[in-house]
Amino acid sequence: MKNYISISDIEHIDNWILEAKEIKRKPLSNNHLGKNKTLGLLFFNSSLRTRLSTQKAALNLGMDPIVMNVSGDAWGIEFGDGTVMNGNTAEHIKEAAAVVSQYCDIIAVRAFPTLTDKELDESEQILNSFVQFASVPVVSMESATGHPLQGLTDAITISENTTKKKPKVVLSWAPHVKALPHAVGNSFVQAMQKMDVEFVIANPEGYNLNPEITKDTPIYHNQEEALKDADFVYTKNWSSYEDYGKVLKTDLDWMITKDKIGDAKFMHCLPVRRNVVVEDAVLDSDNSLVIEQANNRTYAAQLVLKKILENN
Ligand code: CP
Repeated sequence: MKNYISISDIEHIDNWILEAKEIKRKPLSNNHLGKNKTLGLLFFNSSLRTRLSTQKAALNLGMDPIVMNVSGDAWGIEFGDGTVMNGNTAEHIKEAAAVVSQYCDIIAVRAFPTLTDKELDESEQILNSFVQFASVPVVSMESATGHPLQGLTDAITISENTTKKKPKVVLSWAPHVKALPHAVGNSFVQAMQKMDVEFVIANPEGYNLNPEITKDTPIYHNQEEALKDADFVYTKNWSSYEDYGKVLKTDLDWMITKDKIGDAKFMHCLPVRRNVVVEDAVLDSDNSLVIEQANNRTYAAQLVLKKILENN
């Protein structure tokens, strides 16, 4: 594996989960692998967990992480081919990616979608430009259409917490005041499709994710029906994919409550808006896995970096 930009870069998820658990048990056992290597973390968007856990993962491997908020601190980057650069952008991705490749042995990039231009978002212009023009491996720290470090984390967390051979996992849409990306939902779907779980999606009409990603995963528009007998309830808001980037529904009837999920384990990638997406009683209960999920971000990132360091 040269780059890690999608859940489809995982060949055998069960093997990856086993390896991640071993890393979690002994996080410093490969701290020679990254000696004298630098991880560059480039953020076009905000982050708490990804920013800190990926740095922590690099440090556990003996790497030196360097971080840049590209949108705020770097020159405006041009991605268009053949553009006459007489506007706001001062540096082309061809130079930027080549230059950063001289300072870093691996480049990790976070770049969210516009949610206004579906074609541009689906082209993954920023992430794919780094893959094209960098001379070192590239890791997605969440792109327009996927968050594969989060999806891997979620798979590890479910594997750790299941008491059944084949648990029922429900991905349930929940309300939110802002238009949010599809990336976390997409990568969670792709991760669950690789696992031996009974997996269903629940979302209101008009909120189906990209059918090329959901494929034959059952989609319910009745949340109560979908949640029946769930062992894990993964909650996330996303804006409409069909009516691209639009918020069609904000009332709280899809909010996750203790009454709705009973004894099921609750999962969310964070950050989460309390009492909009999920009520306090769920987040504050012993059935909430959200803090453990955030902890597992380190080991998912460490596994990905380890594999790249070993293979390059
Ligand atoms: N879950 C997640 O990616 O969190 P951050 O946006 O804080 O990095």
